[in-house]
Amino acid sequence: MSPAAPFDRVAESLLAFWAEAGIDSMLLDEPLDRIEAGKFVAPRPADRKPAPPPPPAAPRGPGADVASAVLEARRLAAQAPDLEALKAAIAGFDGCPLKFEGARQAVFARGAPDAPLMVIGEGPGAEEDARGEPFVGRAGQLLDRMLAAAGLTDRVFITNTVFWRPPGNRTPSPQEQATCQPFLERAIELVSPRMLLLVGAPSTKSMLKRSEGILSLRGRWFEWRSEAGNLELPAMPTLHPAFLLRQPGAKKKAWSDLLTLTERLDRPERGA
Ligand code: URA
Repeated sequence: MSPAAPFDRVAESLLAFWAEAGIDSMLLDEPLDRIEAGKFVAPRPADRKPAPPPPPAAPRGPGADVASAVLEARRLAAQAPDLEALKAAIAGFDGCPLKFEGARQAVFARGAPDAPLMVIGEGPGAEEDARGEPFVGRAGQLLDRMLAAAGLTDRVFITNTVFWRPPGNRTPSPQEQATCQPFLERAIELVSPRMLLLVGAPSTKSMLKRSEGILSLRGRWFEWRSEAGNLELPAMPTLHPAFLLRQPGAKKKAWSDLLTLTERLDRPERGA
């Protein structure tokens, strides 16, 4: 309250403060016949004018509404005739809130545009955000070494479930993944891989809609199906290389997953 506030507002505020503290009568120098004078009743909280409701939070592009953002993403993704156009469509899309939470740029994909294997990670980290390419930090370098050891270097297309870095490298939310999913599905359609490698729990959960832990899902084959049901591919979850950097003892599990996957990838396709 400023010193220039009118006296009655100052008094009202002070009396309300006292009333809230339980003081609802005053002692005066002279006795006062309260029956005659009318008993003073300080305004109770309920009698006071309610505070005006806070202004609604400004919606931030279509991302404020997941359903309409997904529709918009589907529309844009369907219009992209190739991976370059898809990359541009993602960069111009405002429906994923992550875009407005500190990310420097959209991070789409790297690798062979006709790869038989698509690797899908969680989301870009700091290094990826700075360079605009997925899996280029320490975890990405480990992933590359593992793919090279399995003879897969030129046979992969690498991307993520979300295309902007989540602040502080937190796990992307299901809503953020949902708004990016139409672009990811369009990438799968355009690359047309034979199988998917799902790297880490958030990617596995989002793609397969399974709630079990990654340690029980890894190394097993699942059937991934697109939202519209028009695409189907075998998909294998495995451990995230960032986890392997922290738990090197788990590398042999990831290596075994990669060997199982490569064995299937190298098997001649039936009817080929
Ligand atoms: N982790 C991921 O899941 N994706 C990246 O691109 C980098 C780190």
